[in-house]
Amino acid sequence: MDPAILVLVMLAGVSHAAETKCNASPNMSLCSANLGGSVSIQVMNNASGHRLWCKRQFPTGSITVFNLKKERVTIHDSLKNRTEFFINNGTLKITHVERNDSGVYNVEIFQHNGVLLRNVNFELVVQGKCLSSSLFML
Ligand SMILES: *[C@@H]1O[C@H](CO)[C@@H](O)[C@H](O)[C@H]1NC(C)=O
Ligand SMILES: *[C@@H]1O[C@H](CO)[C@@H](O)[C@H](O)[C@H]1NC(C)=O
Ligand SMILES: *[C@@H]1O[C@H](CO)[C@@H](O)[C@H](O)[C@H]1NC(C)=O
Ligand SMILES: *[C@@H]1O[C@H](CO)[C@@H](O)[C@H](O)[C@H]1NC(C)=O
Ligand SMILES: *[C@@H]1O[C@H](CO)[C@@H](O)[C@H](O)[C@H]1NC(C)=O
Repeated sequence: MDPAILVLVMLAGVSHAAETKCNASPNMSLCSANLGGSVSIQVMNNASGHRLWCKRQFPTGSITVFNLKKERVTIHDSLKNRTEFFINNGTLKITHVERNDSGVYNVEIFQHNGVLLRNVNFELVVQGKCLSSSLFML
């Protein structure tokens, strides 16, 4: 095969895999994302009428990735440019995934009256060898 075609085939494969999806549940879910790609993590079907508080754990403490209150989403400053939370389908979307997005995230879901409904958790695992290893094979 013409090497140029081979490269195109591989790049098509890579860009296809660049977007991943995942459902978070009360049990720790493993969500994989590709370096530089985007990942959608559904934490509930419809977040309207709820309060959500999503934390990311670090050895030194935690940050609030986003929160939802009175139908308004607030995203942490360091993630603002590449993170969205869709209320209509309860989905967190992170684009331009960086290696250090890896880690454990915890989402507390409250009813509108403040009663805790449930916790969902997920561990984001960022994989980054795809593109470099396929180019290496050429
Ligand atoms: C969570 O794990 C428990 C015990 O392993 C299992 O019974 C339950 O079905 C799981 N729930 C979900 C939503 O995966
Ligand atoms: C989400 O829930 C709200 C409030 O219960 C409802 O008004 C809305 O139609 C629902 N949206 C979807 C997409 O199901
Ligand atoms: C986000 O984007 C704006 C405009 O492009 C830029 O000024 C700002 O520095 C960016 N912030 C971060 C945290 O990357
Ligand atoms: C959630 O809704 C947004 C906006 O309507 C849409 O762009 C996105 O693809 C949806 N995500 C999922 C996982 O359904
Ligand atoms: C994550 O990595 C990016 C780029 O490598 C860097 O700009 C950012 O500050 C890092 N964030 C954290 C929380 O370490």
